[in-house]
Amino acid sequence: MNPADRDNSDGEGPARSPRRQLYGRSKGKALRAAQAARIEGQLPALTIPLDRLAEGPGPLFSRPMTEFRLEIGFGGGEHLAAQGRQNPGIGYLGVEPFLNGVAKLLAAIEADSLDNIRLLRGDGRDVLASLPEACLTRIDLLYPDPWPKRRQRKRRIVDPAFLDAVVRALAPGGEFRFATDIDDYAGWTLARVLPRTDLVWLAETAADWSEPWTSWHRTRYEEKAIREGRVPGYFRFRKA
Ligand SMILES: C[S@@+](CC[C@H](N)C(=O)[O-])C[C@H]1O[C@@H](n2cnc3c(N)ncnc32)[C@H](O)[C@@H]1O
Repeated sequence: MNPADRDNSDGEGPARSPRRQLYGRSKGKALRAAQAARIEGQLPALTIPLDRLAEGPGPLFSRPMTEFRLEIGFGGGEHLAAQGRQNPGIGYLGVEPFLNGVAKLLAAIEADSLDNIRLLRGDGRDVLASLPEACLTRIDLLYPDPWPKRRQRKRRIVDPAFLDAVVRALAPGGEFRFATDIDDYAGWTLARVLPRTDLVWLAETAADWSEPWTSWHRTRYEEKAIREGRVPGYFRFRKA
């Protein structure tokens, strides 16, 4: 059984991966017939094959791409699909364990005939570990699960091993972009990035982290955070 197929009935339990725990929901409401048909019909052809990633992302696409970017935890895929539409020459990889989110992104890919997005229903850390060094120009981690309670913080995806994997996969000058609406997660991430010499925070003024970057497309989670009165922060780090 694929670990990503495990359903967590309370929506919070861990889905186990052979290497590490993947916390959070992997399934939500039952898929509608059209969504299920896309999962069956389109997902196999668009799925990122972990066992062939060592060759790099290029062979995954049917035409040459100028560069490659990865979005980890794309949710419903709003940001990833918008990026794919805006930059048809860039190849995008997206990873998300939540089946319903994958189904949504497949609908957007079909609606706009996007041929520059490949995806995996799984764990972003597996994609990072399988890619060759220095093959990505950008890695986006947008609103990762906040795990706000003190005892849950160890579940956060940002940790030294994750940052090592991000740096390894980024090309020199490539960017790691991180957004969160949880002050404590912003502080948590800065505390782990700022001591490093291989990632440089690009903020010079407060506007650089309090306003979204150019070409930002609001995500579903961000809409909810703003509705509920939380204030997002946007962080860009460049690989030295
Ligand atoms: C709070 S949601 C944000 C989703 C989306 N980025 C947005 O802003 O709307 C966090 C997402 O990260 C996904 N996620 C959690 N752990 C992950 C992992 N190890 N790899 C990839 N995605 C993960 C969750 O399934 C969830 O969809």
